[in-house]
Amino acid sequence: MNQDQLKQLVGRAAVDYVTPGQIVGVGTGSTVDCFIDALAASGVAVAGAVSSSERSTQRLQKHGIKVLDSADVTGLTVYIDGADEIDGNGFMVKGGGAALTREKIVADLAEKFVCIADASKLVQTLGKFPLPVEIIPMAAAQLTRRFAKLGGEARLRAGVVTDNGGHILDVTGLSITDPLAFEAEVSQWPGVVTVGVFARNKAQVCLLGGADGVKTLIF
Ligand code: A5P
Repeated sequence: MNQDQLKQLVGRAAVDYVTPGQIVGVGTGSTVDCFIDALAASGVAVAGAVSSSERSTQRLQKHGIKVLDSADVTGLTVYIDGADEIDGNGFMVKGGGAALTREKIVADLAEKFVCIADASKLVQTLGKFPLPVEIIPMAAAQLTRRFAKLGGEARLRAGVVTDNGGHILDVTGLSITDPLAFEAEVSQWPGVVTVGVFARNKAQVCLLGGADGVKTLIF
């Protein structure tokens, strides 16, 4: 099976975590696109979705799934999203699609984060994938210096403006051995909107697609 087929496989598997009549939290990315398509094809009638990006909103609406404002929702049972990396504790790096801020906001509303990913995303230690950080543009130079002190090299993602009007730094060279402490530290640097380490809002379940099918990891 190629990577696209694995994404379709886990996208379909994630539909089992959605109950009819429920409001579902929806992430962003190519794997989530597969989930949205599978949800629409499944006939499971949800009450609506809270979306983490314009991209997912458009796809949900194209399928006739109602998109609700996060401000009108007090909580979600489940949030389904992909990841760029996930470790053995359910800690993740996210934001390759630049949607990390809204993803973290919607994930924070949910009781359960179900991560859907192909097996290439499972890592021992986070940091090989360049860490996305949404920032306020005027802080870019100072934040680049701060990451350098941690051994990271930050590069501005050229031509990208997020759904919130922010910019993205991609940081290479990090080895994130304590994701909770790293997220807490970087999140309080002036000018950081959102760091792409999802530790406080980690996954409780990961549906991992590989050669043998879908493996369910519970954290
Ligand atoms: C979007 O900003 C990201 O967090 C995605 O969830 C992540 O990059 C995974 O995307 P793919 O499913 O396209 O690999």
